[in-house]
Amino acid sequence: MDASEAGKRQAAEAAASLVEDGMVLGLGTGSTVAYFLPAVATRGPRVRCVATSLGTERAARTLGLVVEPFESLDRLDLAVDSADQVAPDRWLVKGGGGAHTREKIVAAAASRFLVIVSSEKVVPALRPPVPLELMRFGLAATLRRIWERGPVRLREAEPTPDVNLQADLAGEVGDPAELAAALDAIPGVVGHGLFDPSLVSDVLVGGEPGGVRRLPDPR
Ligand code: 5RP
Repeated sequence: MDASEAGKRQAAEAAASLVEDGMVLGLGTGSTVAYFLPAVATRGPRVRCVATSLGTERAARTLGLVVEPFESLDRLDLAVDSADQVAPDRWLVKGGGGAHTREKIVAAAASRFLVIVSSEKVVPALRPPVPLELMRFGLAATLRRIWERGPVRLREAEPTPDVNLQADLAGEVGDPAELAAALDAIPGVVGHGLFDPSLVSDVLVGGEPGGVRRLPDPR
């Protein structure tokens, strides 16, 4: 296992040790979360889960975790997910796996949102690309507005679970709050991968010389 995978696994196992009986858990998407799922299942707490993607849902069920639809639950105790980039001020870029809209809904619904990453995901400042989820209706008009922020490229990928298109914005991120607000103001943008630090409760970084470290809270 290479250093990056070992870091993901360390962070995921540390997060699993924070799961308690009776919790309602939000499960993220991606290769780091793929280490979290068996680590939770092995510990055997009685938890109920919601999943941010079909892949996570299937993997969790295979491991014996109870996964429910996320329609009638209005609050989660803990959401655990990874990120593509984590800045020191805790802004995140997510969505490499195309699930960022659901991931943001789950993170926002959780009392605690725990981010688990390997150390190379911690960056001095966020950089492109920023993943986007776009409605097909009005696509050309939406893309024209996004181009004002830099080049945008549609992904050759399956539609999202909510049957929207995936794209990546390659323009400079600059001030993430300003870019996030600009993207939020474009009606055909269903979601973007910039996650505000106010969503983030804790970041566990694996693969560092001392093992797992908590990213300091800048607030
Ligand atoms: C999926 C995500 C993932 O959390 C992010 O892409 C990191 O993935 P991985 O754990 O495979 O490195 O945001 O939409």
